[in-house]
This record gives sequence, C-alpha cells and structure tokens, in this order.
Amino acid sequence: MKMPKNNHAIGLFDSGVGGLTVLKEVIRALPKENIVYFADTARIPYGEKSRETIIRFSIENTIFLLEQNIKMLVVPCNTATAHAIDKLHQIFNIPIIGVVEPGAKKAVSVTKNGRIAVLGTRGTIKSGIYQREIKKRLPEAEVIAISCPLFVPLVEERMLSHPVTKLVIQEYLTPLKKASVDTLLLGCTHYPLLRKAIQEFMGEDVTIVDSASTCAEEVLLTLSHEKLHCDGQNDPKHHYYVSDDPQKFQQLGSEFLESPLTSVSLKVD
Ligand code: DGL
Repeated sequence: MKMPKNNHAIGLFDSGVGGLTVLKEVIRALPKENIVYFADTARIPYGEKSRETIIRFSIENTIFLLEQNIKMLVVPCNTATAHAIDKLHQIFNIPIIGVVEPGAKKAVSVTKNGRIAVLGTRGTIKSGIYQREIKKRLPEAEVIAISCPLFVPLVEERMLSHPVTKLVIQEYLTPLKKASVDTLLLGCTHYPLLRKAIQEFMGEDVTIVDSASTCAEEVLLTLSHEKLHCDGQNDPKHHYYVSDDPQKFQQLGSEFLESPLTSVSLKVD
C-alpha cells in the first residue's frame, strides 16, 4: 500500500554533521515527523568551493532525497543555501527552506543599534546573501561580514575550548569589538558549537543568534500551511545517509545532535 504523502519524511542535506544543529531544532519543534538526512561527507567542505560546484552538489543531493520520498526539503547548510537555494526553488516542485532568511530575520529582530556581525564560510560571505537579506529587512543596518575558514576544522576536531581556537577567535573577531556590534549571527552550521568561546571573547553585551530555531519554526509553519503534517500514528523514523565513512558520522553526529544516531547508511551510487 502506498504511504500517504503526509507521512513522507522531511529531507535535509548538508556537507556533513553540521546541519544536525538545525535538525535538532526541527526534531524539537516537530517530534512526530519522519526524517531523512543526507551528509555529503565525501565532498565536505562546501565552504571553500565555487558556486557552480555547490549548485551541482545541491541538485544531486536533492534528487537523492526525492528518491527517498521526501515531502519537503530543508537546507541547513549556509553555503548551499547561499549559492543554490534559488536554483533549487526553480527546479523542484516541493516546499524548500534554507537557513539564510530565518537567520537574517532573527538577527534583525534582536539588534538594537543596527550593527550586526555575520560569520560564515568564505563561500557564504562572498555571496553577500546575508548582507542583502539583513538590509532588505533593515535598510539602515550596518552589516560586518567575516569569513572564518578555520572554525569548521576546529569544530570537526572537537577543539571547542582549546587555546588554539581561542587564538583563532581573537584573530577573526577583534575587528568586531571596534565596530560596536550588538548582534552576532552565526551563519554556518558548525559555529553554534563555538558559541560559548565566541561569547566569552565578545562579552555579554553582544547577543549571539543562529538560524536553527527560526528555521525550525518556518518548517512548522510551512507544514501547517501546506497541510503536510505527519499523522503521528507510528513512531517517527530518523534515517541518515552519508557519502563516506558512516562510522565517523555516527560518532561525531551523535555529539552534534546530543542523542545517539542509530540508523546510518552509506549512499551507493
Ligand atoms: N555546512 C557548511 C555551512 O554551513 C559548513 C561546512 C562546510 O564548509 O562544508 O556553510
């Protein structure tokens, strides 16, 4: 018997474990939904690759998730959202949510002095998407965008409060202290794990935000709007696919998600 569309999964893809920081909030907001998450671990990092390459990867990832019968797509990866979300909207006829708009919305709702810092990968910052999305909502905003390419490997190595990480934070973020920002947006899946160290460096007067919870709210609203909520009659299934090294993903992913990942398979082409 064919499964009714409402009970199909919400699909997510990221370059690796980072998107689990967003998935955690999606599960919190929608505990009954089935989930399929694809981590493109063979091709991480996305943050250093060209727009054309990221668009190609994003299309391939979406096709794979559609083959797993998803009813909507969430792109927790900031770099993929920055480069490819418009293209995905053009090509695929399902609800698609990225992380940039929710992040920009959140930052604008929090700032008091209009001076907002955005941190992201080289690709995300170079695309200018956060700068545009913030200014669209708050034209007088002053946006200071900084790429922090060393943050992703430091997080992957679990060096969350290591002295080297503190030095790197100091190196990247010192200009922000002089710029008197009152809001700092973490525009990359991995950066929420450095929140504590970044907060310590920036001080308590700076509010740190990310897109995870706002993105999850948007997923909930979209499911309601499209009348696509799961009927919740069975226990939700969460399945993970990776393009390389399921064991490493399972181990690191359980830490990112703060709950054990049980069902992880290798995607075979
Ligand atoms: N997921 C990426 C992002 O949020 C970070 C990791 C990578 O560079 O692939 O931009």
